[in-house]
Amino acid sequence: MEILHVSAECYPVAKAGGLADVVGALPKYQNELGHYSKVVMPMHKTEFLHQHSWDLIHKGYFDFDGETTRYTIIKEKTNVLGFELYCVDVFGLLDRDKIYGYPDDHIRFLVFQRAVIDWLMQWELLPDVVHVHDHHTGLIPFFMKYGYAYQRLNKIKTVLTVHNAQYQGWMNWSNTKYFPEWDNWKAGLLEWNNQINPLASAIKCVDRVTTVSESYMKELFHAANGLETLFAYESNKCFGVVNGIDFNVWNPQTDDKLFFNYSEKNISIGKQYNKENLCTQFGFDANLPLFIFIGRLVGEKAADLLPESIKQALSLYPSQFNFLVLGNGEPSIETELSYLQLNGYGYFNTQIAFNENLSHQMYASADFLLMPSRVEPCGLNQLYALRYGTMPIVRRTGGLKDTVIDIGDKDGFGICFEQASVQDIVDSIGRAIYLYQNTTSMLSFRKKMMHINHSWENSAEKYIKIYQTIS
Ligand code: GLC
Repeated sequence: MEILHVSAECYPVAKAGGLADVVGALPKYQNELGHYSKVVMPMHKTEFLHQHSWDLIHKGYFDFDGETTRYTIIKEKTNVLGFELYCVDVFGLLDRDKIYGYPDDHIRFLVFQRAVIDWLMQWELLPDVVHVHDHHTGLIPFFMKYGYAYQRLNKIKTVLTVHNAQYQGWMNWSNTKYFPEWDNWKAGLLEWNNQINPLASAIKCVDRVTTVSESYMKELFHAANGLETLFAYESNKCFGVVNGIDFNVWNPQTDDKLFFNYSEKNISIGKQYNKENLCTQFGFDANLPLFIFIGRLVGEKAADLLPESIKQALSLYPSQFNFLVLGNGEPSIETELSYLQLNGYGYFNTQIAFNENLSHQMYASADFLLMPSRVEPCGLNQLYALRYGTMPIVRRTGGLKDTVIDIGDKDGFGICFEQASVQDIVDSIGRAIYLYQNTTSMLSFRKKMMHINHSWENSAEKYIKIYQTIS
């Protein structure tokens, strides 16, 4: 089967979050299963672009609100990622340093989507499936079906994966001036609550909707930032497929970002070496349990609860643990965390940054990873933690609920709690500190965690099965 994934991000080319990790791994595993899966994304100006060689594949143009817009498609020469990687360049719009965060983002992603379908029209043999990811690519299925100039594409099967339904790409109707000519009778397929809603449009137009865990799929029927009734209406074509992780990238035995590589056999010493190194860097005592939080500092991840929870835990369990936070996001949370650092008596530290290398070192060094998320479609960090023998402490929601079992339950290996509240977080930190004192239990849990197989193989196969039901 031939599959074209369309995404705003792809690891290691350009990453803002978990979406990149999924798009950087799933196609590779689909290829290993004998399929022909590729990726097209915007040509962000990242290091990867400069470090690799590219072939010029196609140059094209289309009319964009009365102006001729030219685009270029380039392809990474060696398929270094395990799949063909194509990037779309539109001068001045897509060749920027950041993936998101510009006032004209909606125009940038409209141009990207227009270029993708325009390029697709040039293919001699069309792919079996166009698989779009999140709202940035959500108008493609509509354009393929109802754009007058793109009728050649209207038989291609389409799949949408919802990585996060909180963001939907809302825009007002004046933006239709940037659309290719389309069948106006079909305006209803663009709309939700009187606005153009690219995520809703994709849900309406695609053949299959997937999301990144089964529990999140169920949650979307009653909590989807306004789209609940749409998900319910389209429920027959909706499926939850839990994400995997790239076992080659996330492997403590070979990870070149670590101070010291280790396997299940030498896990105690391996983690201790990494921990000592990291603790020296952050002024921590390596004999105490090390807790970490890695992620965007936003309400969705319940990062607003971190300062108060850590403060209370520090006063309840003084000098009994270290806590390191890595991430950036809402300025008020960043400020509170920096303030706590000044008053954390050396047991709390924070890096307000996005730092891929440090995150790997943290998974290898830490004893516990905290994820109190209010919303977590899948969550990958808990899966990375397991692979590195680090115990996840998670709120039972979305993908966290599907991938972590509490140590109090049969076959358990993690710590789970119900509410995104300071109380639940502090209690869980207490449970973890208590557990840490039992070195025999800790060791056996670590081994158990490292045995859990969340590689992409199973889930990549599930996606293929979903494609097969429509082709
Ligand atoms: C989004 C979700 C996260 C998920 C990731 C990859 O970032 O918030 O839960 O793991 O996408 O699907």
